Amino acid sequence: MNSSSTSVPQVRQADFQFRCIACGHLSDSASQDFRCTDNDCRDLLEITYPAWKQKPEPEQLTSLWRNRRILMNDDDLSGVWRFRELLPGVDEAQIVTLREGNTPLYELPRCARTLGMPQLLAKHQGMNPTGSFKDTGMTVAATFARRAGFRWVACASTGNTSASMAAYAARGGMRSLVLVPEGKISWSKLSQALDYGALTCQLRTDFDGCLRLLQELVLRAPVYQLNSINPFRLEGQKTIALELLEQLEWTPPDHIIVPGGNLGNSSAIGKALVEMRDLGLISQLPKLSVIQAAGANALARTVRAGGKQLISVQPDTRATAIRIGNPASWKKAVGVLEATGGACEEVSEIEIAQAKAEIGAEGIGCEPASAVTLAGLKKLLQRKFVKPDETVVLVLTGHSLKDPDYTIDFHRGELFQGTQDENAAAALNPLRRPPIVLDATLDAVLSTLEQAEKS
Ligand code: F0G
Repeated sequence: MNSSSTSVPQVRQADFQFRCIACGHLSDSASQDFRCTDNDCRDLLEITYPAWKQKPEPEQLTSLWRNRRILMNDDDLSGVWRFRELLPGVDEAQIVTLREGNTPLYELPRCARTLGMPQLLAKHQGMNPTGSFKDTGMTVAATFARRAGFRWVACASTGNTSASMAAYAARGGMRSLVLVPEGKISWSKLSQALDYGALTCQLRTDFDGCLRLLQELVLRAPVYQLNSINPFRLEGQKTIALELLEQLEWTPPDHIIVPGGNLGNSSAIGKALVEMRDLGLISQLPKLSVIQAAGANALARTVRAGGKQLISVQPDTRATAIRIGNPASWKKAVGVLEATGGACEEVSEIEIAQAKAEIGAEGIGCEPASAVTLAGLKKLLQRKFVKPDETVVLVLTGHSLKDPDYTIDFHRGELFQGTQDENAAAALNPLRRPPIVLDATLDAVLSTLEQAEKS
């Protein structure tokens, strides 16, 4: 489709450079592993926009973005590319898009009431085209992969990145290679990669092993890597925060709470918040807090030990999306925690299961990794880091249908069977709604209904 950009005010598109997060080295191009090539630095890169020194007027940007919501071009229909002034610039015709973003901001009234809060909000990234927040970053990174002429793209994944990458590669006419840990990702996510035609390899290792191998592979083969080490991914994921602030009419919430796995998403959202503050789009920074599963708590440990060196762990959690022990973007995440004054918490398997059931009971639902945000909020309230009257937004990262086995195991009472949490899990029984097998008679259904009404 042709752009109708003549009908909207012109704001210059952003030109970008790569900057090393450790030594600050600037360059116009990046190596295939997206690591700093200056001396032996090898740290991660981020994208920076020198042109922003001539700052666009915040009101001009916000009205431009608002007006685009009624336009029908590919780059305006996307909830990511609509914010293109804060993204690396491409022509509309080059964009690989599935109309990502544009996700709802819901109230969680029952959870709020239970926690004694007047209001609690959830930004549901599970409402993206492949069911997770990964699509917001993938549209940008896949666009740059295709623009650079790559035939193959690849990622290591706990499931969602691979589902998203496979879809965007297919849309962009590229082939995709998926490396996932064997037996440790949900069937729903694996099935998406297969459905979208990826070459899918289940490796006998964990996510960290898959990512290590991928980093070596991209230096040996002409394959474009689409993990969140790729800084284009994080640029796209910034729009989660931009869209959230637009939905809040540019009044920043007091807190934003995200799950932490490989730590790309927290880094992206934190980068967006700092950029919005620097551009005058918001007057103060929300505190960005990161929540991890206690069994995969590398960042929580790292922060407790002063944040200077990564303390990696042997990960173990049923929230398989965040079953990561050696998070690649830990330094970026420590940086955004410091910049925004956020906290890092860890939550138990029981706490995750409870929070997931509570979000499900709001009629929204999410995958287990997303539910750590509500479980973490409870802890942050307990330690008075969050006050009940403050505005809090939970970022729900994945759709409930991403991991139906978890939900079914929970409601059937099988999630904790044979684990050390088996006895403690009895406390969750009031939240369970197991399916009931009945004879196909009216009496059987009526008496079940009566019993349910009494309980
Ligand atoms: N929530 C969900 C549903 C995820 O899939 C992930 C990461 C996270 C949270 C954590 O985000 O890694 O940016 O800190 N999933 C990756 C994957 C690792 O391969 O799908 P992060």
